[in-house]
Amino acid sequence: MEFQEVIKARQSVRSFNGEPVSAEVVEEMVLAAMEAPSWKNSQTSRYYCVTSENMVERVRSEVLPGFNQNSTAKAPAFIVTTFKKNISGFNKNTGEPDNEVGNGWGAYDLGLHDMLLIAKGKELGVDTLIMGLRDEKVLTELLSIPEDEQIMSVIAVGYATEGISAKPKRKSVDEIARFF
Ligand SMILES: Cc1cc2nc3c(=O)[nH]c(=O)nc-3n(C[C@H](O)[C@H](O)[C@H](O)COP(=O)(O)O)c2cc1C
Repeated sequence: MEFQEVIKARQSVRSFNGEPVSAEVVEEMVLAAMEAPSWKNSQTSRYYCVTSENMVERVRSEVLPGFNQNSTAKAPAFIVTTFKKNISGFNKNTGEPDNEVGNGWGAYDLGLHDMLLIAKGKELGVDTLIMGLRDEKVLTELLSIPEDEQIMSVIAVGYATEGISAKPKRKSVDEIARFF
């Protein structure tokens, strides 16, 4: 798939067909994510890949709110994304933030990584749903996520059912960009 095709074809999927995604495919997605740029190459993004049936069901039923549970009813895998706090955007020697954005840079880096992760998924025929609505406390315990990491999204991974609705409309270039 050409790059332009990947970015056009990717859309959030809220209806999965239950077909499993292999650990190798998930690993390829993580490998692609690692090619993303990050603040001083700090690489603070972390991935918790949930592929076993029992754990997938626990993440779905214990971590996600009802709406997201329904959307991921037959998703065969989840990738929980976090970043290590106080590194990206921070001065190594003083531990102080380099500017007003602070840990926003860690989140920025993770977003760049996640975009490559889901785009690689699309190239491999795998669909995804990024979810920001999730229970951080339950995730921390369930996956033993260290305290120095900020949990961001849970990404459902799988294959879409046939005939899902079209991708939502985008704003025009005029609405979002100014040229000088
Ligand atoms: C940071 C972030 C959090 C999101 N959280 C949720 C969520 O909790 N539940 C959901 O159904 N969709 C969620 N989405 C998906 C967005 O609704 C979706 O990306 C947007 O409507 C554009 O549609 P598209 O992804 O199909 O292009 C989230 C997306 C992002 C980037």
